[in-house]
Amino acid sequence: MNIALIGSGGREHALCKKIYESKLVEKIICIPGNAGTSKIATNIDVDILNFKKILKHIKIHKVNLVIVGPEEPLVKGIVDFLRKNKIKVFGPNKYASRLEGSKAFMKMICAKNKIPTAMFKICHKKEQVNKFLNYCNLPIVVKADGLAAGKGVTICKTKKDVIKISSEIFKGKFKSSKTVVLEEFLDGEEASYFVIVDKNNFKFFGTAQDHKRVFEDDKGPNTGGMGAYSPAPLIIKSLEQKIISKIVKPTLKALKRRNNPYTGFLYVGLMIKKNEPYLIEYNIRMGDPECQVIIPRLKTDIVKIFQNAVANKLINTNIQWKKEKCMTIVLCTKGYPGKYKKNLKIKNLQKINLSKNDFIYHAGTKYLNNVLLNNGGRVLNITSIGNNFKNIRSKILFYIKKINWKYGFYRQDIGWKVIKK
Ligand code: AMP
Ligand code: GLY
Repeated sequence: MNIALIGSGGREHALCKKIYESKLVEKIICIPGNAGTSKIATNIDVDILNFKKILKHIKIHKVNLVIVGPEEPLVKGIVDFLRKNKIKVFGPNKYASRLEGSKAFMKMICAKNKIPTAMFKICHKKEQVNKFLNYCNLPIVVKADGLAAGKGVTICKTKKDVIKISSEIFKGKFKSSKTVVLEEFLDGEEASYFVIVDKNNFKFFGTAQDHKRVFEDDKGPNTGGMGAYSPAPLIIKSLEQKIISKIVKPTLKALKRRNNPYTGFLYVGLMIKKNEPYLIEYNIRMGDPECQVIIPRLKTDIVKIFQNAVANKLINTNIQWKKEKCMTIVLCTKGYPGKYKKNLKIKNLQKINLSKNDFIYHAGTKYLNNVLLNNGGRVLNITSIGNNFKNIRSKILFYIKKINWKYGFYRQDIGWKVIKK
């Protein structure tokens, strides 16, 4: 069969490589893909929000199944559009995508279904903000309701900051929505839990911990993710049962009742306090870089899984995982997540000899006349699988030092929570 994969990040390169390894696949097209995917798939340079043009290429290449990586096309309704055109697609429809596309919607689902989450108030005007300030202790988390490319959340230590950030959102700082969600601050440890979902069932799809801050010791501004590892040892069996019964099941049931059953990957972003899970956020897709540490641990043919998911036959699918652990460190362009340069040469990659348990997933890269250049802030995901996080990290750092990219930087402390000094 022929598969189209939408997106251009490290997540998509990891998915593309796994799809490429399947015997069920003849051809993969990536829209738009990156330098890494260009070696195993046909990259097609089309805007991921130009659904009509995407459909045209899907037809030209006789695509049997479309996999959507990033959130934006999902939130904007690519699944509904393709289904209307009789194309098989893996991912949630526009309504279900509001779990990520609108924090107010997600919180409303929590409130109506008693799903544990931080206490909150949805605000459309200043008076509502003032009211919340009267009964919630500081710090307070201020969130933009709509998609905000990872920049929509601010943890405020003063009332003045809460008012300032909220009024910026009311004034339209983020195009996606002028609604503000205020939340109590939850103190705990973060972890992510993944499931793959069809209309009737869901299956476990791994756990991971990301590192969102740009600098070591979790300092500096938030990024898309500087590195991750899987599994998350924090998620023990007793906690997993609570995540499923208190969060995943009630959410899927609620969407079914609303006649929009969830389908696709569901990323459950959690805060864990005393072995109790609280929902921080939903993402309607795999995480990036979480995907890059979950996919290498997958034993089962991913195309078989996708096929069964779109046929609503996940119940018969036995998804198997390797016991080994996996970690990835993201090599970024200097300046990220602020301003950074593009089209900088990455010279040493072809000199690296990877062993079979190591992978370099491309993210913001492209080829120009056969020369590898950076094309984004997060550039390469150096990834390795093994028995011990400390050894895995040493191996990754060894490769990064060999790449020795003069325009790059990375965190050396990924996995500090699971690696004793
Ligand atoms: P979100 O986009 O909702 O995932 O928020 C981004 C990050 O902000 C999360 O990964 C947490 O680190 C932090 N965060 C969000 N909500 C809360 C909360 N209620 N309490 C503490 N930290 C939070
Ligand atoms: N790494 C966080 C995310 O994918 O949203």
